[in-house]
Amino acid sequence: MGSGLLSIKTADDFAKMAVAGRVVAELHAEVRAAAKPGVSLKALDEIAEKVVRAHDCRPSFLGYQGTYPATICASPNSVIVHGIPTDYRLRDGDILSIDAGAIYQGWHGDAAFTMGIGEISAEAQQLIDVTEQGLWNGLAEAKAGNRVGDIGAAVEATAAPYGFGVVQGYTGHGIGQAMHEAPSVPNYGRRRRGFKLREGMALAIEPMFNLGTPDTAVLDDNWTVVTADGAWSAHWEHTVGLTPDGSFVFTLPEPKQVA
Ligand code: MF3
Ligand code: CO
Repeated sequence: MGSGLLSIKTADDFAKMAVAGRVVAELHAEVRAAAKPGVSLKALDEIAEKVVRAHDCRPSFLGYQGTYPATICASPNSVIVHGIPTDYRLRDGDILSIDAGAIYQGWHGDAAFTMGIGEISAEAQQLIDVTEQGLWNGLAEAKAGNRVGDIGAAVEATAAPYGFGVVQGYTGHGIGQAMHEAPSVPNYGRRRRGFKLREGMALAIEPMFNLGTPDTAVLDDNWTVVTADGAWSAHWEHTVGLTPDGSFVFTLPEPKQVA
């Protein structure tokens, strides 16, 4: 984590984060359209890298910590996050999480979604939809004066009625001129507790819900995070900026006010 608190100081900073976010949204749209049975995860990564570079951005994941080898994380089925795009070809009934980050003139956007491939089970669709709802419920709490515990509590409460496992070992984060800044943003917590949010901060909120337990394991590639019990997992993420005029999600075609 860096120390980039009060990330967004000017309208120019806001505009640059909005560009980075829009490019991530464009990447998501192109990958979503291409993700069909028979298509490999590597093919999706190639599409993603082209989108980023076509918009004068750089992929933030590529070379991350010196070793991450791709533009996207592609995490099918029981992979929670950080799946390296392989030659695995998507199959009807799979679910797939795509996570991606772009840097525009030094400013970061970071977002993820989970989709079904072909026809998926009702249970898998519910996992996807509830995890996305957890993200929006967390984003609604991302406002100056609130605390990170307000976000975590809202995310956690979304999963509770369904009995989904809420992953604890990986969290959201501050973001701005680095992909990962303080504070850490857990998907669980207690209202009115934790780091106090201020105008100028930007956060990446990223719930990960499992059909089984919250427990995780890392594969031998040292990146791929899977569920310990093999149950399927969903992941959604947006980058949100807290401004004097309210909180705006950047990782969409246009900034959208959420708080
Ligand atoms: N969106 C993820 C995160 O916020 C992905 C980064 S991992 C990487 O941590 F290695 F792919 F960069
Ligand atoms: Co992130």
